[in-house]
This record gives sequence, structure tokens and C-alpha cells, in this order.
Amino acid sequence: MTTAIRFDHHNATRICFGAGRLSALGGLLPEHARILLLYGGGSIKRNGIYEQLCQTLAGHDWNEFGGVTPNPAVEVLNDALTQIRATRRDFILAVGGGSVIDGAKYLAAAAHYDGDSWDLVSSKAPVAAALPMGVVLTLAATGSEANGTAVISRLSSQDKLTFRSPLLQPRFAVLDPDTLGTLPDRQLANGVVDAFVHASEQYLTYPVGALVQDGCAEAVLRALRQLAQRFDERHALDWRQNMMWAANQALSGSIGLGVPQDWATHRIGRVLTALYGIDHGRTLSIVQPALLREAVAEKAAKLRQMGERVFDAPGSVPEQVIERMVQLYRQLDMPVTLADAGVADADAANQVMDLLRRDGAIRLGENGILDEGRVARIVRAFC
Ligand code: NZQ
Ligand code: ZN
Repeated sequence: MTTAIRFDHHNATRICFGAGRLSALGGLLPEHARILLLYGGGSIKRNGIYEQLCQTLAGHDWNEFGGVTPNPAVEVLNDALTQIRATRRDFILAVGGGSVIDGAKYLAAAAHYDGDSWDLVSSKAPVAAALPMGVVLTLAATGSEANGTAVISRLSSQDKLTFRSPLLQPRFAVLDPDTLGTLPDRQLANGVVDAFVHASEQYLTYPVGALVQDGCAEAVLRALRQLAQRFDERHALDWRQNMMWAANQALSGSIGLGVPQDWATHRIGRVLTALYGIDHGRTLSIVQPALLREAVAEKAAKLRQMGERVFDAPGSVPEQVIERMVQLYRQLDMPVTLADAGVADADAANQVMDLLRRDGAIRLGENGILDEGRVARIVRAFC
């Protein structure tokens, strides 16, 4: 039976890609804007990016807010919001990884909202307007630089939630692979796995005959598999530029157009970050194998296709394909159980389930195939 595929697609982010392209930033910034430069814990001050930004921003009206934490929290971001309002900023330049970019999206929406800005994150209020923003990416992983999604935490309530709006789509993103040069191996590996799981969650469901979407997903997954296998080449331009584009393409929209999607690995992973502070990419390598084993029957056809087209292993049974993914994660020194990530909590499975339940009925996976009982089995398997 043919599945009808329908979608709207408008990716409005202008991408300036390539080594040395940080020099293009000057031509991208709106001339008369009052700019907030937003960044994280200071990596840009240690690797020379900050100096380049200062030169580019000379002549503009700008001020800065540094200190956005990984897994950005409203508790910190609200100080930046106060600054935006007090100094009447009308453009945000986010320089960093997914956390800084997502933080900028929160601020862009919050600057136009009069109530408690958490309403926007919890989707109690829609994003009705947002400040324009641009990005200089320094960590290839999330794809946040060219999508309208943000993931924001509230530490006081152990919340980590996703919200999205086309209004949060960055106007431009500078993807200069030179900026990846100072990333620790751990963050590079996190990035490979995050991007791999983004492509997987839009691909590993069931076949609907979407030849182009499948082909794009397989190209991205194959590239990431090769980059994982060639991890010792990570300081070469060839590795970095492929990594930067693969991560961008994994979540800039095209792979998932009109096809069934899963996102259960991300949903459960967010809880592991909220409870135990585990890096985003590492939560995914912990959750995904257990989830695929639980849903192996529903995902069998796509797992076989992945074995043939991504792992060059035609004829693999679905369980073997899952094992290949586990090998790939282990090769990158990523955890595949909570214990691997250094968490020793005998009550972990209950804690995770309680937090998942708190946000409503548990129905995860494509078409809600995972009910609460199945989710609990997945959680017990990695705890
Ligand atoms: O804060 P600084 O000092 O800059 O250090 C950061 C941070 O400690 C460091 N770093 C970044 N660029 C560097 C660098 N260190 C040296 N050299 C550089 N060039 O790396 C650390 C981690 O940064 P972070 O931004 O937290 O990492 P990532 O890009 O993995 O972002 C993770 C966040 O994005 C969310 C995650 O949930 C998490 O909160 N996600 C956002 C998505 C989206 N908006 O579409 C989708 C993803 O699935 C994900 O959920
Ligand atoms: Zn992710």
C-alpha cells in the first residue's frame, strides 16, 4: 500500500560554510542592529574566536553576555534577558554549541513575551514574536544552528523541555570547521553520536517508500559511521568539514520530511540529563540500543535496510545491526549503560519513570508504539 507523503519545507537559515568563513560574519550582521553577543563558559576566549568577533563587531552597537551553561538553564538565561531589556538589544549573535544557540532562541522569544518566559518552553504560550538571531557554530552536533528548535532546562524543577517555532530559525549560521579545532575528544564523540541518533530517529521506523528521505538519511549515517571509524583523523580539515556538514544535515529538516519519526531516545535521554547531568550525546548512546531491542519487531525492515546500506552488511538480522551500532558507540568511548556513565543509583529506573510520568501519559515511538510498560522495560535494560 502506498503511503501519502505531505509536508511544508522552508529552511530560512543562510549557511556560510567552509574553513576561514568566520571572516564572512561582518557581511552577515545587520548594519544598524543593537547586538547581544551570547556565549558559553569561555572556550571562545581561549581559542581566539572572541578576538576575531571583537574586530568584526567594532563599529556596531554591541554588548555581551557570557556564561551560558551546557544544557542551558532559565536560571542563568534570565540574567541575559534582563540585560537585553535594559540595553534594548534587537539582535542576538549566538557563538557556541547547541546550548548557547538554544539559549539564544529562548531569549529571542522571551524578549517579546510579557509573562513568565517558562510558559514558552512548556508550550503553555505560543511563540508569537522573536528577536532575529544569527549563529557562529563552534561545536558540530545538534543542528540547532539551522532549525527552529530549542531545548531548555529549569534546574529548580528538574525540567528539560523542547519547544519550537519557525520564528526561532536563525537568520544565518557560520559553519567554519576551523572553530572545531579546540574541542575536547569527548565533545567531538558526543557530536558524532548526537548527529547519528538524529538521523536514526527520523529513519529507523518503518518503510514508507520515501526514496529521497531514506537516501539522505543513509548518506548522513554512512558519513558519520566513517567519521567514527576515522576518529584518529579528527584534527584534519577533511574530518572536521565532513563532521560539520553531516551534523547540520542530520537535523536541518530534509531527512524527516513527511516520514514517520520516533524521538523516544531523545525524550528518555533528556530525563537522564535532568537527573544525572549526563552530556546530551551520551544519554543517547545509553538509551538507543535498549530502545531498539525493545522495538526490534516494529523496526525490523528499516534495521535490515540500515545494515545493508549504512553498515555494508547485507543479510544482517536486525539484532546484528543494533550490535554494530553499539560497537560504533563503544569505539568512540561512549557509554551504553548508566553504569558506563558513572551513575550508581539503585533507584535509577524508578526515578527515570517518575520524571517521564510527571510530564503526562507515556506513549513514545512512532505511532505511540511504546506504552508505559514497554518504556519501563527499556529503562530497566540500561539502568
Ligand atoms: O561553554 P563553552 O566554554 O563554550 O564550552 C562548551 C561546553 O562546555 C564546549 N565547547 C563548545 N565549542 C567549543 C567548546 N570547547 C572547546 N572548543 C570549542 N570550539 O563544549 C561544551 C558543550 O557545549 P554544548 O553547547 O552544551 O554542546 P552541544 O552542542 O552538544 O549542545 C547540547 C545541547 O543542545 C541540546 C541538548 O539537549 C543540549 O542541551 N539539543 C538541541 C537541539 C536543537 N536545538 O535542535 C537538538 C539536540 O537533540 C539537543 O537536544
Ligand atoms: Zn540530539
